Amino acid sequence: MLDHHRITRSLAGAAVGHLVDFHRSLASTNDRAFKLGEGGHPHGVVVLADAQTAGRGRRGRSWESPPDLNLYLSVLLRPDDLPVALWPRLSTVVALALCRALEQEVPGIETQVKWPNDIYLGGRKVAGILIETGQVGGGEESRFAVVGTGINVHGRPEDFPPELRQTATSLAVEGDAILLGRKLEREAVAVAYLRHLACLLAETRDGFATILAEVASRSLLLGRDVHWVAEGGEQIGHALGLDAMGQLRVRLPDGGEKTLGSVEKIRPLG
Ligand code: BTN
Repeated sequence: MLDHHRITRSLAGAAVGHLVDFHRSLASTNDRAFKLGEGGHPHGVVVLADAQTAGRGRRGRSWESPPDLNLYLSVLLRPDDLPVALWPRLSTVVALALCRALEQEVPGIETQVKWPNDIYLGGRKVAGILIETGQVGGGEESRFAVVGTGINVHGRPEDFPPELRQTATSLAVEGDAILLGRKLEREAVAVAYLRHLACLLAETRDGFATILAEVASRSLLLGRDVHWVAEGGEQIGHALGLDAMGQLRVRLPDGGEKTLGSVEKIRPLG
């Protein structure tokens, strides 16, 4: 079982993760963190579960959350130095925090960001991000964000359901040749992620250009032809870059340009 005390000890005094609400099993850490947000709990509280019975992905998909293998955590954010208008930047920031943390724990691996919310290793998905926002009463100060992340730390192919075995992976599987038997600790991965997240959040308002550049250098889509599904149906285009909010700029087949805020699905072509 996860030793959540180790996480809070390591993060004593930190802006994020100094308080951890740990559960052996929860329906969804995002649901629990949302309730804490509505209940007025402070910035930086982390909800952590060893297993989820109704883990949620984006767009109503489910997130496989078996016990004892992976990380399922949600961070409650009330970033008072980040105006709500800049909150769309959060998914880029969280993606970079995850990349840096995974690369710190297994030096030599190369993470990629599949815009907008997926982290890849060796061409397969290793982590996903689900950000939800809420509000109690009126005014900016009553708003909060819940940043949920699922990180596959130890899962082997046989731990994933058959339909995910070709597309999902874990840090341990991809880091096997580097780790040489050294056991990865989920607590250390969580601490690394939460530290990078706190550090990057402090840079999000004024230093976002640097964050964007680092994410762009890890992008799985930029510079490639892509196919996506959004409300308007299916489309193809060429991924040009990320804008000042972290949205994807694409060139369309007719030569026009478009900015994608969110999509149902997106994949590189070829
Ligand atoms: C995705 O890739 O679609 C996002 C997956 C997000 C999964 C995490 S696990 C912790 C948190 N609780 C949830 O129910 N979902 C997020």
